[in-house]
Amino acid sequence: MSSSWVVAGVPVVYCATRVPVGLDSLWPSEVEVVRTASAKRQREYAGVRWCAREALVELGVGPAAVLNDSAGCPLWPEGIVGSMTHCDGFQAAALAWEKDITALGIDAEPTQGLPPGVLDRISSTAEREVVSSLFATDREIPWDRLLFCVKESIFKAWYPVARVGLGFLDVEVRLSPSFTAHIEFHHEVPAGLGPWNCTWSVNDTILLATTWCA
Ligand SMILES: CC(C)(COP(=O)(O)OP(=O)(O)OC[C@H]1O[C@@H](n2cnc3c(N)ncnc32)[C@H](O)[C@@H]1OP(=O)(O)O)[C@@H](O)C(=O)NCCC(=O)NCCS
Repeated sequence: MSSSWVVAGVPVVYCATRVPVGLDSLWPSEVEVVRTASAKRQREYAGVRWCAREALVELGVGPAAVLNDSAGCPLWPEGIVGSMTHCDGFQAAALAWEKDITALGIDAEPTQGLPPGVLDRISSTAEREVVSSLFATDREIPWDRLLFCVKESIFKAWYPVARVGLGFLDVEVRLSPSFTAHIEFHHEVPAGLGPWNCTWSVNDTILLATTWCA
């Protein structure tokens, strides 16, 4: 499934699949990367790259191999920014033109609460207070996992541009029930990177967060 959407005036092409994608869809240089990987890793690697190529075509760029740099960041064709995510039975890619967006990160997580102890490690007291109050009004959404998902999407937008690590406590996220999140950094932000935006969605199985700087 591929769809184009406009967030706050910014065009992003998003493609997701739940259907397993065969290794035969990979380009030769990509096959080399996962030749000795587990079957699960091969499936998710092929799935996100199928999504990414669909999105590249939608953006008007020819399909291309999507390799990674030594830090794991995807390497996109000239002028493109993007991000990929995989979790059990779901793969997705989101791509845009660099002239429209300077940083873009997506993360998918299962719609399940975090294992015990994880929330305390990835959040501040203020963030946990917001999570508690959201649980008090809506128990259907795993707000703790959503906070984690948003932070992972921030990292994936941040790292390819900033090129320095970012700890979970270097970012303060205020989740909003209106499918957005407010982001503040306790870490120096590279000049020109911002403002930071985040949107999220949820269904029975998948939480998906998208963070971007226009
Ligand atoms: C890199 C990381 C964010 C990946 O997230 P994940 O939930 O494990 O895995 P996902 O399936 O969602 O994403 C994997 C994809 O992320 C991308 N990725 C990997 N490293 C990346 C990086 N440094 N920057 C941007 N994207 C990266 C790759 O495209 C990868 O897929 P691929 O290997 O098939 O190309 C995670 O492993 C990590 O290191 N997290 C710790 C840092 C962090 O999140 N800090 C939070 C600060 S607020």
